[in-house]
Amino acid sequence: MENEKSRNEWLQIHNRAARDYINSEWSREVLFGVARQRKKLFAEAVGDALDVGCGYGINFPYLTQVKSITGIDFSSVMLAKARETMRGSSIKVDLREGDAEALEFPDNSFDTVISTLCTCSFYDPIKALQEIRRVCKSDGRILLIEHGRSTWKWLGRYQDKHVRQQIEQGGCRWNQEPQELVKEAGLNILRAERTLLGIFHTIVVSPAKGK
Ligand SMILES: C[S@@+](CC[C@H](N)C(=O)[O-])C[C@H]1O[C@@H](n2cnc3c(N)ncnc32)[C@H](O)[C@@H]1O
Repeated sequence: MENEKSRNEWLQIHNRAARDYINSEWSREVLFGVARQRKKLFAEAVGDALDVGCGYGINFPYLTQVKSITGIDFSSVMLAKARETMRGSSIKVDLREGDAEALEFPDNSFDTVISTLCTCSFYDPIKALQEIRRVCKSDGRILLIEHGRSTWKWLGRYQDKHVRQQIEQGGCRWNQEPQELVKEAGLNILRAERTLLGIFHTIVVSPAKGK
């Protein structure tokens, strides 16, 4: 779906929705099982790690094997909460305000690049995925957790019907096909798994160039 908003409108929607997103932690993480997916997937994260669209920093405690963490997000509201959460924590994170679609890092900078629940939120997800690939070392790993259109017909149709509302309220295109987007961006999926009525996806991607 073409983004009909301007980039500035998109950012404003996200800043407005940030508080609600933060407050929905219990249902998302516990009820929908996203915390379990984070724990399982991020056991594979090593070396210097980048979290693209890091939000309020929910992924950081799961990155137990990494050497360093850099987090970027374009929402000042999300980053303020991330800073507050990390205060006093032993985890050191370089948090930066930045755009996923124009990452400020040189090519091949990170061993692991993660991004969670973001392809629905990025203004141009293809561009963001290509940037994620660019900054990941060619022998590194890209680890994604995404959500999209359910494989259950009635639920998928419900998502289609209410997608405009989701966009207005939270800047979320909740009826996308994340694995298709990853392929469209030219990334090489090594493993993918769908859970919870086909809504959630964990995707392991090789950034190997030239594929
Ligand atoms: C649904 S939230 C997910 C946050 C976090 N990754 C998580 O798993 O809870 C999507 C995040 O993407 C951020 N975002 C959206 N577009 C972005 C962009 N172009 N550059 C950086 N961050 C962006 C939003 O501000 C928001 O924090």
